[in-house]
Amino acid sequence: MLDNGAAPPPAPGPERGRRTLGARLMWRKPVDALIAESGHGEGGFLRRSLGVWQLTMISIGATLGTGIFVVLGEAVPKAGPAVILSFVLAGLTALFSALSYAELAGTIPVSGSSYSYAYATMGELVAWICGWCLILEYGVSVAAVAVGWGQYLNELLDGTVGVTIPDALSSPPGDGGVFNFPALLLVLLAMTFLLGGARESARVNAVMVTVKIAALLLFCGVALQGVEAGNYTPFMPLGVAGVSAAAGSLFFSYIGFDAASTAGEEARNPQRDLPRAIMLSLFVVTVLYVLVAAVAVGARPWRDFADSEAALAGVLRDVTGSHVWAVLLAAGAVVAIASVVLTVLYGQTRILFAMSRDGLVPRIFSRIHPRTGAPRANTVIVSLFCGVLAAAVPLGQLADATSIGTLFAFALVNVSVVVLRRTRPEMRRGFRVPLSPVVPAIGFGLCLHLMAGLAEITWVVFGIWLTAGLVVYFGYGARRPRPSPAQPPPAEK
Ligand code: ALA
Repeated sequence: MLDNGAAPPPAPGPERGRRTLGARLMWRKPVDALIAESGHGEGGFLRRSLGVWQLTMISIGATLGTGIFVVLGEAVPKAGPAVILSFVLAGLTALFSALSYAELAGTIPVSGSSYSYAYATMGELVAWICGWCLILEYGVSVAAVAVGWGQYLNELLDGTVGVTIPDALSSPPGDGGVFNFPALLLVLLAMTFLLGGARESARVNAVMVTVKIAALLLFCGVALQGVEAGNYTPFMPLGVAGVSAAAGSLFFSYIGFDAASTAGEEARNPQRDLPRAIMLSLFVVTVLYVLVAAVAVGARPWRDFADSEAALAGVLRDVTGSHVWAVLLAAGAVVAIASVVLTVLYGQTRILFAMSRDGLVPRIFSRIHPRTGAPRANTVIVSLFCGVLAAAVPLGQLADATSIGTLFAFALVNVSVVVLRRTRPEMRRGFRVPLSPVVPAIGFGLCLHLMAGLAEITWVVFGIWLTAGLVVYFGYGARRPRPSPAQPPPAEK
């Protein structure tokens, strides 16, 4: 008898009838099997090299970037100074789901993150849909973030060497350009670090995260001198609706706190460290966001944020009347956004790694390089996909598509935590969501609420994406044989 009471998966093949296909779609992968094959890839094993510090840095690295450096400028005209509240509201939405992530990451610490949690609790089809949505959260957001990088790179180049990359080469078609070369370059750069393995990438990421936190603190320190009480009134010029609309856009800035959960198979003590890393990173970014937003709208009248690219650098220029601080901040943003690309790209490769091990995407995604312990072919394929997407599609459309996919995956995680409490109540949990099922239910509701606020076109894109996902699943994954259970990896030497 399998641990969750499910029957073993029906063997696929031409003789499989409707009933066996149905059973397969609903088949829940036993939690013990998920944990037993942790670290296991094609021809090798992932290495357990990450501690709580690196895991926290991965989550902060994946979270703090374009949202605060670029999207803040687009959100202020929607809410006025009350954008501070929008950050709190978006942060609360993230918090409810973060609690569920923390419980599941500490209970089922595998690379697949919410895809694997859904597989263990809601069956293969839901898991596939979740994994497909994670491609929006990770793969597509890498592209969205890389696109925003070009704005700050130009700011930096302008302030230091007095040249900027022409629009034709720094913006995608539809955004006044032909090809976003910096975005492609950034993704390829991140790829080279990832090919070196998780430990090396985590080291580079930790340095970049330190630089970006320092850049935001520097911003607060300098811009504080320009804060005027008059800029905070009226505080909510566009009402509660404005605050909510801005919160919807700013949710993008919280995406990524779950990235540590994709490192479950490379963490030294995942049960203990993953919940800590997820909660700690969310706390750090929320405090920073609220601080930065409060100083930014205090130092510059909110109406002046309309049409400003690289908004924070603009605030510093206004306050000091000099380009020096703005250039320093732009340098910080260039590093900040690069670290988002590095860590989110990492997360995408690990999710596909887990899906490939389950036979739902080709085996090449779980092949491991014997020397670096990294899934190299996977990393190259994902990077090329994201790089081309970043170079050819405008940021705004990508950011919304990212948000809807992420919110859907978060909603499923809130359901998974409740299901697992019922199917496996006895499992040891490194962290428990308080007041379950009330808190996960609120998390689920908040995710649906933010999804409902997204534009119709975003829903259309989401519908097309899901349909494409189902075609791929029934055309490929559902026809593949389930791989035989993996043996546990050998101990680290
Ligand atoms: N949260 C990430 C960012 O703001 C996606 O760049």
